[in-house]
Amino acid sequence: MKEFKKIGVLTSGGDAPGMNAAVRAVTRAALAHGVEVVGIYRGYSGLISKDVKEMSVRDVSNALNRSGTMLYSDRCPEFKTEEGMQKAIASCRELNINGIIAIGGDGTFRGATDLTVRGIPCIGIPGTIDNDITSTENTIGFDTAMNTTLNMIDCLRNTCESHARCNVVEVMGRNAGDLAAYTALASGATAVVIAELPFDEEKLLTKIRTSRALGKRNFIVVVSEGMGTEFAPALTERIEKETGVEARFARFAHVVRGGTPTLRDRMLATRMGEYAVERLLEGKSNIVICEKGGNITYTEIGFALIVDRMYKNTLKEGDLDAFTAEQVEEMKAICAKKKALITSIAASVDKLGL
Ligand code: ADP
Ligand code: F6P
Repeated sequence: MKEFKKIGVLTSGGDAPGMNAAVRAVTRAALAHGVEVVGIYRGYSGLISKDVKEMSVRDVSNALNRSGTMLYSDRCPEFKTEEGMQKAIASCRELNINGIIAIGGDGTFRGATDLTVRGIPCIGIPGTIDNDITSTENTIGFDTAMNTTLNMIDCLRNTCESHARCNVVEVMGRNAGDLAAYTALASGATAVVIAELPFDEEKLLTKIRTSRALGKRNFIVVVSEGMGTEFAPALTERIEKETGVEARFARFAHVVRGGTPTLRDRMLATRMGEYAVERLLEGKSNIVICEKGGNITYTEIGFALIVDRMYKNTLKEGDLDAFTAEQVEEMKAICAKKKALITSIAASVDKLGL
């Protein structure tokens, strides 16, 4: 089995609350096993430029409760080129980094696979507010982003009630509607619009007219950014024009990435960080850590990336060739479960947000 003397930890892609808790857990778990840890700044950019720091137990003090990422983050296009990749491998050799734990989203995991196949074993930890890693039930940052979003919607609801208005809210999530759907249900929104599901605008307009006539004063419509930047502002105008209810538009954008990590995100990050170190030290690599039914487990990165494509209906020719029939069935079951959950959440919004 490979002997690990020093491992690296990095955060990459969009930052997410709880990433610091994961860095802390990785650092302290590795040090507890007698393995040195280097923090790699700015994701794969810092690996290429050897922008690293030897981590001690104290270097991760007071990190657990802060959002953002103490290791900073970056999107590094150079790393996607063979030349950039070779520079990153050379850095690992020079700095004696035997393995890497990479915290981020699917792009980060692609990079982790590329490093693994070139001789640097890597493990991915899902850190993104989008919850768009289909193989895990929750990603680090999703719960905090939901709670931050929820607080902001509650504020809008108060002012809508005073003025008898509708507020259309666009929330992040890239192509994933999870953040929008969950917060719509929890905030009692009138409707949620996400790219994964069909949207019946006439039904929404009728609902607003009817509820207004019955005395309802506040209306919240949550739209996922996956609908495109033009969609929510245009919908706001149409709601006002077609229902007579004054409408306003709010785009929450990056602010929902900065909330104080919730207990759930701190727990998830801490458990995943510790678990990832244990798996790396026992010789596993090219895997992504997942939460399933409340348990921390793992799946192959290759499997996780293809499940994501299957869920988003973006499978390419030959994508499934490397997998057994059982694995393909497992992928289908994961996607069906996730789709059923989001569909039922959206249906509940529709039914209960009256
Ligand atoms: P996320 O990890 O949140 O999905 P990105 O998609 O921006 O965020 O990916 C983060 C970083 O991972 C990129 O800036 C790049 O350095 C690396 N990366 C993304 N895609 C690939 C890829 N196909 N191959 C190698 N590295 C990649
Ligand atoms: O992946 C996290 C995320 O916040 C998405 O929700 C959003 O689409 C994207 O990152 C924004 O990216 P950037 O931080 O580069 O503006």
